[in-house]
Amino acid sequence: KPLTGKEGFIEATWKFIRNPVEGFGPLAYRQPIVTAKTLGQTLHVISDPEGMNDVLVRHADKFTKTAIDARILGPATKEGLLSVHGEQWKRQRKSVAPIFRKRHMEDLAPLIADVIEQFKARIDQRPNLDLSAAMADLTFDVLAKALLGDPKGLDRDRLKTATRAVVTGAGTLRPDDLLPWPRWVPRPMTPRGSAALKRLKRAADDLIIERTQHPADDLVGLLIGAENLSQRERRDNLIGFFIAGHETTALTLTWALYLLGRHRPTLDRIRAEVIAVCGDKPMTYDQLDHLTFTRAVIDETMRLYPPAPLLNREPQVEVEVLGRILKPGDAVLLNNYVMHRTERLWDNPLLFDPDRFLRDPSLRAKGAPYMPFGAGPRICVGAAFAIMEAVMVLGTLARDYDIIVADDVYPRPLMTVTLRPEGGVPASLVRTDV
Ligand code: HEM
Repeated sequence: KPLTGKEGFIEATWKFIRNPVEGFGPLAYRQPIVTAKTLGQTLHVISDPEGMNDVLVRHADKFTKTAIDARILGPATKEGLLSVHGEQWKRQRKSVAPIFRKRHMEDLAPLIADVIEQFKARIDQRPNLDLSAAMADLTFDVLAKALLGDPKGLDRDRLKTATRAVVTGAGTLRPDDLLPWPRWVPRPMTPRGSAALKRLKRAADDLIIERTQHPADDLVGLLIGAENLSQRERRDNLIGFFIAGHETTALTLTWALYLLGRHRPTLDRIRAEVIAVCGDKPMTYDQLDHLTFTRAVIDETMRLYPPAPLLNREPQVEVEVLGRILKPGDAVLLNNYVMHRTERLWDNPLLFDPDRFLRDPSLRAKGAPYMPFGAGPRICVGAAFAIMEAVMVLGTLARDYDIIVADDVYPRPLMTVTLRPEGGVPASLVRTDV
């Protein structure tokens, strides 16, 4: 039964503003779809594989992303894959997807291993850190090195500061984001945020010019070589990779390391697996498929803490989903966070149990109740890169360090656009051989 009237409005809006993944509270865990009227808009929250498949796969062409999404991502990546629709999206996806092919991933693995070694040298000097900040730093360096190569004149620190400021600013939901603004109303930015965005766009333009003059096989080179993209689309896609690929992977690693700090036996199992497969050397691409438990820990982490916890869509025509008619102008929220944690679909959903992915590998199959990378034609284009990076970082750190998280550190998962640990995760990474 739709949640309407004064009670529905106050309950849904208030919960939503405080922490959108908890919006609609217990109802969303019990029901596959919850509908509410808030601020003049009808909102459908779906936390069920069949409903998600209807929206993301079966009727994908009847939906676009919502105005909220356009307002948040638009200023940085309006003409990039993340934001475009229809024929423009189809053309871009065809051009961009080959960049993330297996043979390119193989080439990137040694570069990622190098960045991890440099990161280890830094934490050996300063073992006490905030896991969220440290992982954001590391995944930025991985993207910059593995995807951009070493272009002349690139000021990495400036690029990093600008990207962080844009991701942090754009990625923080504000109460005014929940009002049903038309797409053309710009989202106000702080002076700091808009200065950072300008710097990021300039850096991306410079990189593309530099790579056009000095061609190379890195991401920018492949993007320039990709057919059928305009200059603006190239730039917005480059920025889009940084926005979509940086914090999501950082958060997966932050939550995974936090969980290892809490579950010593799991850390020991990863360590034993990595030593058995890789010895004490940096990992290689061929070894990754043998790190099945490490991979299961990444999967289980993204089940409990999906970095993109809430996807959004807007129907362009009337569509029936789970017995409800969704109409143009309605907002549809696909709640991965609740779907991954409901007793309707999982045994012991709140238990951290990586073995569930080894006992039942079909959990990763399309249409399963596990969709950290989305589903259907718009499924994450960088998923293979993200998994490779996450397994390499988690495996190497678990092999070489003990992870110490104080007993009173218990961060609440707070949804902004991604699922961040509220207040960060203070921890120490202590070398096993000292
Ligand atoms: C799309 C999650 C890493 C680039 C998506 C979507 C999800 C997602 C859920 C679908 C959004 C929707 O349907 O509304 C994640 C997670 C990651 C990750 C959990 C890390 C653990 C990356 C990386 C890159 C990337 C490393 C690139 C370097 C993109 C792009 C899209 C996308 C460009 C848009 C695809 C399209 O619309 O065709 N991601 N992502 N992501 N992701 Fe990722």
